[in-house]
This record gives sequence, structure tokens and C-alpha cells, in this order.
Amino acid sequence: MLTRIAVLVSGGGTNLQALIDARRAGALPSGEIVLVISSRADAYALERAKSAGIESAVCKTEDEILALITEKKIDLIILAGYMSILSADFTARFPQRIINIHPSLIPAFCGKGYYGLHVHEAALSYGVKVTGATVHYVNEIPDGGKIILQKAVDVEPGDTPETLQQRVMRQAEWVILPRAAELCCAKIKKEREA
Ligand code: GAR
Repeated sequence: MLTRIAVLVSGGGTNLQALIDARRAGALPSGEIVLVISSRADAYALERAKSAGIESAVCKTEDEILALITEKKIDLIILAGYMSILSADFTARFPQRIINIHPSLIPAFCGKGYYGLHVHEAALSYGVKVTGATVHYVNEIPDGGKIILQKAVDVEPGDTPETLQQRVMRQAEWVILPRAAELCCAKIKKEREA
């Protein structure tokens, strides 16, 4: 049986799209995306789910998320640009079953307040010459769970937060998120079959 994935989103959903494309291209053979949950009703990610024929919902509370995750028998939760921090109560229910993509090389520029463009603003104002992206397990510490995959990306002269964000997405996020998803799905599938 394939590992059943729910993807949690809040915005544009380019990382969700990378997962959908990977699944179509055969690069995510151990999992299927069965549900997309958005924290916002106006997230473009919801359009992407619709176009791909994936069921979606807008959830405002963790109780609503929990009910859906249980009902749909979800095995793996992927945070793909999800802009709320999940409570310790919630993360404790799913050890090694929630993963997140973060747009920096953790432990740099991560934790509370570091999300979206703010991460790249911080990297540029610090003056780092290399940044990147990280996929990690989610626990009760924001961006503090075990690292699964990372990929480095060069900062270039003249970068703005926007140009850096685009390069990090293209060269790192959209590459390592589907890869990490497959690693986790294969692991869960194997554990179930053992
Ligand atoms: C991505 O860059 C993702 O890494 C980041 O938000 C963006 C969402 O884009 N996530 C965080 O900052 C989480 N702390 P998307 O909606 O197009 O995937």
C-alpha cells in the first residue's frame, strides 16, 4: 500500500506543485498525495490541488486538521510553505511523521519569525555567501527536528530577497522536497510491510 500524504500549505504552493510533478514523473513511487490542507482560503495552492484532482480543505484550527488527518488515514504530513507553527501537542502525536521544507541551511536563519522572504532578508543582511534549503522532521521546537536533506545555493552579487528566494526554490527546495518525501514514504511503507 502506498504511503498516504497530506500536504499543508498557506500560499503559492510551488513546493506542492513540485511534489505533484514528482509523483507524475515517477519520482515519488512510494507515496500518494491524497489531501491538501490550507490555512488560508485564498491560497493559490488550493488551485493547484484542484487542477491535480486532489481533495482539499481550508482548516483554521488544529482540531480540524486532526479530524481530517484521522478520517483520511494519513501516514505522512508534509509542511510545504505552511505558515503556522504546530503545537507541541499536535507534533507529539506524529513522531517522524511530519516533515517541513525551510528556505535556509538550518541551523542558520531558522526558528520563530524566520519564514518566507524574511529568511532571505536575514541571509542577505548577514552577508552569507552560501545559503540553501533544508527538509527536516517536525517536533516541538520550531525548525528543530532531525535534518533529512539539505542543499546549498550560492548568493550572488546584487541579489534581492526575491531573487534569492527564487534561486533557492529552483535549485534546492523543489529538488530536495520530493526526494525527502520519497525517502520518508519508502521508510513508512517498509515499516508497515515488515
Ligand atoms: C517556501 O520558500 C518555503 O520554503 C517557505 O515558504 C515558501 C513557500 O512557497 N517556508 C517557510 O519559510 C517555513 N518556515 P510555496 O507556497 O510556493 O511552496
